Amino acid sequence: MKLSSRLKKIVDFTDKCGVVADIGTDHALVPVYLIENGFYKKAYACDIRPLPLKRAEKYILSRNLSDKITTILTNGLQNVPDDTDTVVIAGMGGEMIIDILLSDTTHHSATFVLQPMTAVDSLREFLYKNGYQILDEDIVAEQQGRKLYSVIKTKKTDLLKDYSAIDVLLSPALQRKKSAEKELYIKKLIYTRSKILENINKSKIHDENYINMITDEMNLLKECL
Ligand SMILES: C[S@@+](CC[C@H](N)C(=O)[O-])C[C@H]1O[C@@H](n2cnc3c(N)ncnc32)[C@H](O)[C@@H]1O
Repeated sequence: MKLSSRLKKIVDFTDKCGVVADIGTDHALVPVYLIENGFYKKAYACDIRPLPLKRAEKYILSRNLSDKITTILTNGLQNVPDDTDTVVIAGMGGEMIIDILLSDTTHHSATFVLQPMTAVDSLREFLYKNGYQILDEDIVAEQQGRKLYSVIKTKKTDLLKDYSAIDVLLSPALQRKKSAEKELYIKKLIYTRSKILENINKSKIHDENYINMITDEMNLLKECL
């Protein structure tokens, strides 16, 4: 089975040991890949909606993996057993991922692989503020760079570390990396901010604090190129 670059990076970031839970599994592509390749002994394929879970069940059955992959109808991590070593939460909004992490009380020693579709900055800031350490982060490009995805590997430590404005835009792990995808990502962040400033200039409402914040962010990002 061949995975997309986004799903492949998610797989690369997993610890490949013990039990994995995929939250918002939809077709169960990730757990099936992880089990078929012998990376985990057991997997939970979880979704909040019955229809995607049926899709997952059908696919798991077609690959003869029902003895190793259990499907669970659940909101986030609520009904996920606590023998889980790795949690994957991918393909949903950053705010939804934050909600799932906030309402979880039983998987604090797991490694989390997160792939937010939106609000990546909010998710990074949430992780810093809540004692999660970002162990790794990478940018994946699909559709010739038209789609860029951040993939984050994190673990809860309960140690609160200082972080700065640039760490919210690019985690320290990502700052240390050099790749064409990362460069594209930074350029996209700069472009978005230049458009915001352009629109503010055209409008009659001028919030100096907001303008300064956006300008500062642009300057910080330019230094990372
Ligand atoms: C776009 S799909 C992503 C599928 C796969 N994880 C991926 O990255 O390609 C999002 C899935 O998350 C599920 N989902 C959304 N909110 C959820 C929640 N709170 N708990 C569990 N699943 C959720 C949806 O039902 C949907 O099947």
